[in-house]
Amino acid sequence: MSEQETQKVLTPETSVEAPKTKSKEDRLRQDRPSLGDWLELRLGWWGFVRKNLDEPMPAGVGWWQTLGNLLLTLMVFQFTTGIALAIYYSAGPETAHASVKFINEGVQFWGINWGLAVRGLHVYGSAAIVVATVLHIIRVFYWGSYKKPRELTWVLGVFIFFVILGLSFTGYLLPWDQKAYWATVVGTNMAKDVPVLGTAIQQMLLGGPEVGAATLSRFYALHVMVLPAALIVLMGLHLYLVRKHHIAGPVVPQKGKPKPFYPDQLYKDAWVVLGGVAIIIWLAVVYPPGLEGVADPTGVDFTPKPEWYYLGLYELLKIMPKELKIVGTVVIPGVISLGMILLPWLDRSKSRHPAMRPGIIIAGTFIILMIGFMTMKGVLEGGGGHEESESTEISSPEASV
Ligand code: HEM
Repeated sequence: MSEQETQKVLTPETSVEAPKTKSKEDRLRQDRPSLGDWLELRLGWWGFVRKNLDEPMPAGVGWWQTLGNLLLTLMVFQFTTGIALAIYYSAGPETAHASVKFINEGVQFWGINWGLAVRGLHVYGSAAIVVATVLHIIRVFYWGSYKKPRELTWVLGVFIFFVILGLSFTGYLLPWDQKAYWATVVGTNMAKDVPVLGTAIQQMLLGGPEVGAATLSRFYALHVMVLPAALIVLMGLHLYLVRKHHIAGPVVPQKGKPKPFYPDQLYKDAWVVLGGVAIIIWLAVVYPPGLEGVADPTGVDFTPKPEWYYLGLYELLKIMPKELKIVGTVVIPGVISLGMILLPWLDRSKSRHPAMRPGIIIAGTFIILMIGFMTMKGVLEGGGGHEESESTEISSPEASV
């Protein structure tokens, strides 16, 4: 039987309403299918794969559209390395640091330090996910792909972005070293500035008056259960909508018929995924992640330094006068977040072309450049300085109480 005929037989419809002209072979195949056919009739897996390979790509779609699948692959990597780490990690103030030290030094076989390698992949994987997400957002923003009918695809994406930031914030505390401890003190102190609910939010995050055992348990539960579960649901819905509305073509439609996803776009995706994964492996091998001394709540001479992707916000807080601190901690991040969620409705232009929506493009470009500039400034200055951060009352241990 030809492949085409097999496909015909294996659709759910043909299995329910069998055509009267069916050959003996077809009937036999349906009455006593092979295990593969039986499964296919129930799962429709190959049909699903085929449908995705045939997904039409408008002319002009290319390298920029590879970022979504890069993100998907990085997420799968992140879940895998995370599960491997969870096998050895122990979340408790007495055990967390020692267990990460063991991961760094003790999980060795066949002459390879697997623990350190997997931890490196997880650490650099998380940074790569933030970079790829930001690039994906920027590409969707300039292409105006958030417009009708893709408003909800965008809104779900914004929530995915928040969950990703939450995952990296909660994950940062888990090694329970000085760096982790003080970055969390700094971060959770910002919550206090939220009007009315600030102290309650901070207490809820900390599980007590300061960063301690309860905070570590909460962050661990958030990091390995709550946020990943939310991410899986949001990603599933996001991808469903991406397929439902198909991918938007270039802002200026290009001549040519849509092409199926396979082979051209799939090969482009594969190159970008291979490149991304190769960079992560290289970083993990050449710059394996370190571990500082165990968290010491009494140590007053430690310079807190958040992860690089929070440095923009951290720099902003350093330059804000004390009386305007709330602008840096709550107003600016709040306005940007709300603006992102409402973007499809704030942008009233019917056209996706950047020239036809100058207000949104100028505002968006300004914000992107400012965040980029502040982050770069923070990276070049090597993170937060103790004196400056004291002036913002966010780094001293007293401030955590
Ligand atoms: C785990 C994170 C994410 C995954 C796995 C993911 C996956 C994808 C994929 C596979 C596509 C189609 C290919 C492409 O355009 O690159 C896509 C498109 C899209 N994504 Fe995401 N995405 C994620 C995060 C986000 C975020 C953070 C936003 C926005 C804030 C977003 C908004 C969109 C929109 C609006 C489209 C439709 C683009 C178009 O039709 O041209 N996504 N996403």
